[in-house]
Amino acid sequence: MNASPSVEVLQRDPAWLIEEIRRLKAERGAILLAHYYQDGDIQDLADFVGDSLELARAAQRANSKVIVFCGVRFMAEVASILNPEAEVLIPSLEAGCSLEDSCQPEDFRRWREEHPGAVSVTYINCSAAVKALSDVIVTSSSAEKILRQLPEDRPILFAPDRHLGAYLQRKTGRDLILWPGTCVVHEQFSLEALAGLRLEHPRALVVAHPECPEGLLAQADFVGSTSAILGFVVASPDDEFLIATEPGIIHQMEKKASGKRFIPIPGGSGECACNVCPFMKKNTLTNLWECLRDGRPTLRLPEELRLAALKPLERMLEMASR
Ligand code: 13P
Ligand code: SF4
Repeated sequence: MNASPSVEVLQRDPAWLIEEIRRLKAERGAILLAHYYQDGDIQDLADFVGDSLELARAAQRANSKVIVFCGVRFMAEVASILNPEAEVLIPSLEAGCSLEDSCQPEDFRRWREEHPGAVSVTYINCSAAVKALSDVIVTSSSAEKILRQLPEDRPILFAPDRHLGAYLQRKTGRDLILWPGTCVVHEQFSLEALAGLRLEHPRALVVAHPECPEGLLAQADFVGSTSAILGFVVASPDDEFLIATEPGIIHQMEKKASGKRFIPIPGGSGECACNVCPFMKKNTLTNLWECLRDGRPTLRLPEELRLAALKPLERMLEMASR
């Protein structure tokens, strides 16, 4: 006689977890927001998938009691800053970011003090405490537009991603004082592996995120935020692409442009999985289910910090939509 599967066995079954997540999401009246770097299963469960700017806007306009944020912690923090009415849940509080880690608030405060009179433009990949010390926040999709609106006669501090900062210097001609942070994923795409892939796929276009170093960006046919890269490959008449960003985005590429071929560029020596963001992948179907079941971990900031971080974020949203 066949015994029915135990609860422990069911909890390891993706189909069971997906069903339960759907049920609990409805029961809690929750909206699920996901970044493109999440696993495909999580993206498919989401009510909205987007880049960091689109996710911030989606969180701000959400009118549900609960937002479950499948991305990294700073993104969930932004959701709770912009929508204090909602309870914000994140499956794993360990979902950090190397850029956030590189820029501690006390060091950042000292850096600002060393440059009195400078405008501080800070990439959204940082803590709420660093946001609170900044004049305006930017994302990869809004940075160029926002920089072009700043007065010509003021020096600009740009933190924490030095590759994105250097890319923006080249694009806008503005001289930026750069914080030395990098993204552990985009820093590592292998130029050697790219050269090999180009030989195998001579017609393929290279698409890259601006967090990549200059050497890689110099080889790209298109540079943009995750959403911009997705839009480019979907609209392009070409049908083969080498991808220099986290491979989670290939899930949406294959859904939106199913006849085309998307080849991830490896990181490091080409033999590791270091083009995969270890922080984004802290969220899994299992901890997403547990998070909806238990209503935690939640993300809530002290009100004083929230209000201080809100100002430069609102400035970003306003300048990005001019
Ligand atoms: P996007 O704004 O392009 O989504 O970038 C977020 C990110 O963390 C890239 O590494
Ligand atoms: Fe941070 Fe890089 Fe991961 Fe994006 S891909 S969340 S910048 S570590």
